[in-house]
Amino acid sequence: MPTSMPDSFYETNKAVTEYLIFHYGTKDDLLLDGIGPAEALGFPRRCGKLHQSFDLDRNRALDLGCAVGASTLAMSEAFQEVVGIDFAHALIDSAQRISAEKEVVVPIAVEGELTRDISVSIPENANPERVAFQQGDAMSLDKSLGQFDFILMANLIDRLPDPAQCLSQIHSFANPNGLLAITSPYTWLEEYTPKEKWLGGFEKDGEPVRTRDRLLELLDPQFEFLESRNLPFLIREHERKNQYSIAQATLWRKR
Ligand SMILES: C[S@@+](CC[C@H](N)C(=O)[O-])C[C@H]1O[C@@H](n2cnc3c(N)ncnc32)[C@H](O)[C@@H]1O
Repeated sequence: MPTSMPDSFYETNKAVTEYLIFHYGTKDDLLLDGIGPAEALGFPRRCGKLHQSFDLDRNRALDLGCAVGASTLAMSEAFQEVVGIDFAHALIDSAQRISAEKEVVVPIAVEGELTRDISVSIPENANPERVAFQQGDAMSLDKSLGQFDFILMANLIDRLPDPAQCLSQIHSFANPNGLLAITSPYTWLEEYTPKEKWLGGFEKDGEPVRTRDRLLELLDPQFEFLESRNLPFLIREHERKNQYSIAQATLWRKR
C-alpha cells in the first residue's frame, strides 16, 4: 500500500493558518482594501454545496481530504450525517476545534515575520453536531465507513501517491444514485504523486493526456459523468500575496 504524503506541509502551522483563513476568512480578511477576485472567495463552501442542483437523498455525506472542514460544515446544512476525513492530524485537530468552539483566533501573516490575530467562525447555518472529523487515509478507506449519498474530493487527487487506486475504490462508498464531486486544479507535482501515477499533464505516444479524459476512463464503469464546472479559488499567503487558481469540478452519478 503506498503511504500518503511526503514530509507534510499539511502538518505545519503555516498550513493550518492558511487553511483556516482560506476556509473561514471573510472578504475583509482575505482581500487587501477589497482588491482582488471576489469570485474566487468561499471555495470550500461552494464545494460543500455542489450537490444542491441535483436530486438525491440527503442522509449521509463524506468529505475526503477535508482539511479544516468548511466544506464538511457546509454539507451539514443539508445532510443528516457528515464525515470529514483528512490525513493531516494538525488539520483535523483544527477542524474539530473550530467545529466545537464555533470561533477561533488565527494569527494571519502580514509581512515577513509579522502577523495579526483575527477571529474566524463557522457559518450560522452549519450543524456541527451532525459532523464527525477523523484522521484517515483516502488511499485505504475502511469499509466500516459505509455508503454515502454525496462524496466530495476537493483538491485531493493531485496530492495523492496513487489517485487511480484511490478512485478505483470510491464506488464502494457511494450509494446507488449517489453524487461524487471531484475538484482539482490538476497541479501535478512529483513531490506528492510519482510521475507514472499522474492522471494527466503529460504526453503519451505523442498525444496530450488530460486529467478529465482519464477521469472519464477510470470512473465510467461505475459512474455516469454529469457535468463539469470551473471553480476559482484564492489562497492567501500574506497581506500582499495570494495564489489564484481555477479548479475543475467534475460531477458523477453512481450507476
Ligand atoms: C490541497 S488540500 C485541499 C483541502 C480541502 N479539500 C480544500 O479544498 O481546501 C489537500 C488536502 O488533502 C489532504 N490529504 C492528502 N493526502 C491525503 C490522504 N491520503 N488521505 C486523506 N487526506 C489527504 C491534505 O492533508 C490536505 O488537507
